[in-house]
Amino acid sequence: MFDWTIREEGYAEENVSLLGNRYLIGNGYMGIRGTLEEYEADKLPAINLAGIYDRAGDGWREPVNAPNGCFSYLRVDGEIYRLPDKTPLSHGIELDYRYGIFKRRTTWRTARGNITLVTQRFASMHKVNAIGMRISVSADFHADVELVTGIDCKVWDLNGPHLEHVRMGEKEENLLVQADTHEQGIEIAVAETVFMHYPMEMKQTVKDGKTIHRIFFITKPGETYITDKWIGIYTGKECESPAEQALACVMEMREGGYERAMRVHKKCWDELWKHSEVTVKGDGAAMEALNYSLYHLHSIAPRHSENLSIPARGLSGQTYKGAVFWDTEMFMLDFFLMTDPGTAKTLMKYRIDTLAGAKEKAAQYGLDGAFYAWESQEGGYDACTDYNVTDVFTGRPMRTYFKDKQVHISAAVVYGLFRYAEWTGDESLLDENGVRTVVECARFYYSLLLHRLTKDCFEIHDVIGPDEYHERVNNNGYTNRMAKYTLEKAAEELEKAEAKGTLPGEYDKDELILKFREGAEKLYLPKPEKDNPHKGVIEQFDGYFAMEDVSVEEVRNRLLHEKEYWGGANGVASHTQIIKQADVVTWLNLFSEEYTKEVLKVNWEFYEPRTEHGSSLSAGMYAMLACKIGEPDKAYPFFLKSAMADLKGGGKEWAGLVYIGGTHPAAAGAAYMTAVEGFAGIAVKEGRLVCNPSLPSNIQEMRFHVFYRGQEYEVTVCGEKGQITAL
Ligand code: BGC
Repeated sequence: MFDWTIREEGYAEENVSLLGNRYLIGNGYMGIRGTLEEYEADKLPAINLAGIYDRAGDGWREPVNAPNGCFSYLRVDGEIYRLPDKTPLSHGIELDYRYGIFKRRTTWRTARGNITLVTQRFASMHKVNAIGMRISVSADFHADVELVTGIDCKVWDLNGPHLEHVRMGEKEENLLVQADTHEQGIEIAVAETVFMHYPMEMKQTVKDGKTIHRIFFITKPGETYITDKWIGIYTGKECESPAEQALACVMEMREGGYERAMRVHKKCWDELWKHSEVTVKGDGAAMEALNYSLYHLHSIAPRHSENLSIPARGLSGQTYKGAVFWDTEMFMLDFFLMTDPGTAKTLMKYRIDTLAGAKEKAAQYGLDGAFYAWESQEGGYDACTDYNVTDVFTGRPMRTYFKDKQVHISAAVVYGLFRYAEWTGDESLLDENGVRTVVECARFYYSLLLHRLTKDCFEIHDVIGPDEYHERVNNNGYTNRMAKYTLEKAAEELEKAEAKGTLPGEYDKDELILKFREGAEKLYLPKPEKDNPHKGVIEQFDGYFAMEDVSVEEVRNRLLHEKEYWGGANGVASHTQIIKQADVVTWLNLFSEEYTKEVLKVNWEFYEPRTEHGSSLSAGMYAMLACKIGEPDKAYPFFLKSAMADLKGGGKEWAGLVYIGGTHPAAAGAAYMTAVEGFAGIAVKEGRLVCNPSLPSNIQEMRFHVFYRGQEYEVTVCGEKGQITAL
């Protein structure tokens, strides 16, 4: 039965990190890990704030986790009851992913009887600064209960602590914590208020890095004692006086009441689902995994902002420095374009508004134009470090070249901008700054071109393609194709901009067009090989075919340590044909119309067994290309893998000694694209939305809505038939 709920029965300490991701709730402003209320920093709880970054000392710059306002536990007859210290009689958690509601239920046996704690929490979709919690206690005896609930200021950090001048206190009956980030002194304020539906006595205390309410009551058997708790979070980035706002927020929420707040929260979710739910007939597992993936995308969408993007690990913590990668444009954007175009605009506006950072980065490398950050934080600052992986054997940082050489990122930005304009019909982002963004990315690629005099062609050397295991290669096909795309688009846009009056004054249009066109025309692209043994296969980069041809299994067997990094100078994969993730396949998926089905198929079949799928981004690209080849059944397991990245978990948690656990929104986005663009075959032909279904055998029917150019459509696909109806 499809009931929009996932559950976990029993308690297993080893699953703390996994469940924290799987049971995440969020509203774009913050993400709250699916951890238990009594957890302290060692169990990885986090209220991860979108777009607020800090560096502590020499550590990596990363997003800030707010003081944990969800903190709570019970004392019964003077004894503390919390997990994992006190073994429960029964315990379970669940997530209602239709509405982003996390629940836990734990029963303990005490010397005098059984006591049950039930909690529920949601990050309000309506009032994004607020978290609502309901704590219910019941016992089958006259238990002497102390409910401890407050704000824990000792937060979990990967490279912290990020909060200084922590001020804990109270205002009237409310708790308040104020703290400042190190680097920029951004104030973070967390307020908390409680409302008890029963008579009790209450005290407030500051102890052990926490400011808490201690609520005392004696239970009557069979009765439930309900406490509503509100947590309000504001930062100095969004207002003048965060503390006042946070306090006002919790007071307002308390005033309105829990039921009402829950109702409006659910209404917001219903509105989101109205445009985005995908109904899948015949395959409950696919429907669950897909909608669960969409739940995650909704939970981290920055709807409250006009120019924020989504980090590669969503709002699940500080992994990957909470930075924005190509994941957003190439994997997540389509979902928002089709279900929530306003958010799609916000994501792309972030890139336009961080152009200055990208220009600065290009200049640092002596290049022209805009070189977008590989790991982008606010202002386009590149958080990627020169030593981004730690060697497991020596414990020393390893020089990696992601930041310097993964130049395909700028093209992803351009791709996203045009995808936005073409899909929504909204050209407003291509105003002067939008045109500048495109032109500066093209200038960047132009300055990377090397002229091979003997062949009169241009090449791009010394890059890293999507397959990060092979660093500093020449003529990575994907990169060259994306650079060519950027140069062509920039030339076209310069023409158009003049006509529209959006041409920035600083450009000599004719000269740039000439250069960009020549660059695009002469840029070398590896072609499908003519002869055996690689007939039809496109070489991923110069010299790839000459590398050792060996199986993924064999390479895995060569590992000396389970967390060993596969790439870089001495990685087990670096000198072999084993690749981390879809690379040529990503290229062919984006430009499939330029090749015959035969070529697409030959490449899929050549590269798939050579792909480790060491990135959660990989499976979705294989799934989508399989659909384009007309083999949906072959796509299906890759689709499911993508859709289950967080539902099932089990993805890599380590790159060398660096923790990389968290949620995988790019995989979620790829699952959506596979379902809607792959299985249902939604596309645009001559300015019209069309659908050309190619359903895998276990899916009988799919139904969903999509926005295209401001109009919402209902799509139904059944067998080979598809129907699109304007709403
Ligand atoms: C992948 C990148 C991706 C990043 C963030 C890496 O493991 O190789 O392609 O952008 O993770 O998801």
